Amino acid sequence: MTQPRHVAIVMDGNGRWARQRLLPRAAGHKAGIGPVRLCIEQCAQRGIEALTLFAFSSENWARPDEEVSSLMGLFLSALEREVAELHSNQVRLRFIGDVSTLSAPLQASMAGSQSLTAANTGLHLQIAISYGGRWDIVSAARQLAARCAAGQLQPQDIDEQMLSAGLQLAGLPDPDLFIRTGGEQRISNFLLWNLAYSELYFTDQLWPDFDVAGFEAALAYFASRSRRFGRTGEQLARSS
Ligand code: IPE
Ligand code: IPE
Ligand code: MG
Repeated sequence: MTQPRHVAIVMDGNGRWARQRLLPRAAGHKAGIGPVRLCIEQCAQRGIEALTLFAFSSENWARPDEEVSSLMGLFLSALEREVAELHSNQVRLRFIGDVSTLSAPLQASMAGSQSLTAANTGLHLQIAISYGGRWDIVSAARQLAARCAAGQLQPQDIDEQMLSAGLQLAGLPDPDLFIRTGGEQRISNFLLWNLAYSELYFTDQLWPDFDVAGFEAALAYFASRSRRFGRTGEQLARSS
């Protein structure tokens, strides 16, 4: 079965999961940690090279203060609790997003766990916090503009590879498979550039309910797709 090298997931539906149980939204976010562990384990076991998880978008700052602070608290406590095990499992952890907007303790914990796991050779795990796809592209464009202004680069020499190299996922293959739980069929400003040719899989399962069967269903969907990258089906048949 053809397997993706890189899986990207929009973990959505925590709030609705909590509401169904008459619990506060924060309880839904807490219940979302289990599936995060599960997906990391599944990817590691199956030899999937990279996993990128959308935990908090640049737009999520607009949520009520109470929800934002409970999420930030959860990120910090989960990170402190899990990092040793991730490290022992050879996971290389990185955070993508506008780190400068986060609290000092969270930034410190993120930086510490990144450097601890930097040399690991197992799963490349990216957690997107305070991340927006448009912000990512703007940041990359700004770096190129600065090089042009400094006379190190000519605008006409800018190509796709150069812009890619300034993005948060630089150095990783683009996600082959995009998964979104929670029933919405949208990108919500996730990896706009890198998802150009990803296979898109949507499930109604709410994130806290996402399980091995759900993950396997997404992999089976991926395996059933014919990825043409602009070519014709006949061209593909000839080259295989
Ligand atoms: C996803 O679940 C988690 C974050 C966006 C932080 P939601 O909190 O968006 O859950 P729903 O969509 O309200 O059910
Ligand atoms: C997307 O979910 C962001 C994350 C899962 C972190 P949202 O719940 O914020 O998306 P919208 O607002 O419904 O598009
Ligand atoms: Mg949502």
